[in-house]
Amino acid sequence: MTQRRPLVEALLKFQQQQPVSFHVPGHKNGLLSTLPDAIRPALAYDVTELEGLDDLHHPEEAIREAQELLAEAYGTEESFFLVNGSTAGNLAMIYAVCEPGDRIIVQRNCHKSIFHALELAAAVPVFLTPTWDEETMTAAGLEALQVEQALQQYPDAKAVVLTSPNYYGVVQAELEAIIALSHQYEVPVLVDEAHGAHLRIGGPFPASALVHGADVVVHSAHKTLPAMTMGSFLHVQGEMVKPEQLTKYLRMLQSSSPSYLLMASLDDARAYLHTYTQADHRSFEEKRRLFLEGLSAIPKLTVVESDDPLKLMLRVERWSGFQLKEQLEAEGIYPELADAYQVLLVLPLLKSGQSFPFAEIRSRIKDAVKALASKPRTEWLAAPFQKEMMSEPEYTFREVSSAGCEWVPWTKAAGRVSAGAVIPYPPGIPLIVPGEVWSTEKLALLMDNLAFGASIQGEHRLKEKLLKVMKR
Ligand SMILES: Cc1ncc(COP(=O)(O)O)c(C=O)c1O
Repeated sequence: MTQRRPLVEALLKFQQQQPVSFHVPGHKNGLLSTLPDAIRPALAYDVTELEGLDDLHHPEEAIREAQELLAEAYGTEESFFLVNGSTAGNLAMIYAVCEPGDRIIVQRNCHKSIFHALELAAAVPVFLTPTWDEETMTAAGLEALQVEQALQQYPDAKAVVLTSPNYYGVVQAELEAIIALSHQYEVPVLVDEAHGAHLRIGGPFPASALVHGADVVVHSAHKTLPAMTMGSFLHVQGEMVKPEQLTKYLRMLQSSSPSYLLMASLDDARAYLHTYTQADHRSFEEKRRLFLEGLSAIPKLTVVESDDPLKLMLRVERWSGFQLKEQLEAEGIYPELADAYQVLLVLPLLKSGQSFPFAEIRSRIKDAVKALASKPRTEWLAAPFQKEMMSEPEYTFREVSSAGCEWVPWTKAAGRVSAGAVIPYPPGIPLIVPGEVWSTEKLALLMDNLAFGASIQGEHRLKEKLLKVMKR
């Protein structure tokens, strides 16, 4: 356990010299900035690759030491700071394992950055549809059997790409088995663990995919650890994915002027995690327990827990999550997100001695729930769910983009190849991705989703009843 923060220390030491800036950035340590006084002081530390401050792309000093401590904290062979979010990590890990035309087995409810990576790397995805988790009402994980069938059918696959935990804190129940199975087929497992940077602190938090032997794991440190937005980690272990491949792509994908404030916050977040003690665990659990107890006494409110104790879902039956979110925001409480059923809260990973105004929050939540009673109710339907378990797009991303695209009314889309992803939330599983054909069943499912009130992400103009398709 170490309190050291090499990059934070290097930055402080550098500023103590009261350096005169004749270098970039142009704000000259904040001097020329007209940002408000509350913000400007931080710019004194927004520096560049100066003597003693190392270089993210060729680390030899403070950044190297900070990244070594990161690897130590997560028990990996090599770990990297990311300054462009897990988005950059997902891109780099996919580029690192495949050549254009290679097959990759992908859990279908992955983040758009995975879809973008597949498209940019010109990989050929084999999509596996996840199961539905009744408890959290979200798309969860894959079954080992499903992955085995895909590996048998596509033994030449270059990777299995998983997402765990999901946004709502549901961890893949068969993660360990899926990783072991993939390794039997000598296929590396890449895990987008963007929502699980904190899992390394151990029970009652579920185990990280790193513990189960995943080859590459990406963490959005900024989502659950005290890191600045965009700050993320990438970890690699084992023999199957070469760290040099990852560094090659990280150099291409990340800025050549990474933010030192951002990197310092990653060093700090790692130290926060690295020094999380049993006493911190106990204190967090006790505060959470009391908060839950308080919430469960609020009439009409249902609190749903998931695998990750940092996530809580709040529901008021017959009112949508969107309506509840609106009332909570009117009380100054900002949840992470809402869906048709619920709102999602991300709790703070408190340490012993830190406080959070839970009692006050509980009373505002109570007021919000009470105010909701005067609003019209919504119908709670079952989210329309796709049954297709394994699928491969009929056309590659390249074929779609070279053919060009056009917008057609949805009544004329049957039989046409989609040129955009259409993703209903919930469940967050793409109904269609570029290269797949709009069947009448898929179009009917789209109508069901619209009737259900799902918010539809992706590339579409559904307000005008238009869908983007490949030109014939
Ligand atoms: C599962 C998942 N992966 C990756 C990302 C992208 O992470 P970042 O915002 O750190 O780039 C997100 C963002 O919400 C996500 O939910």
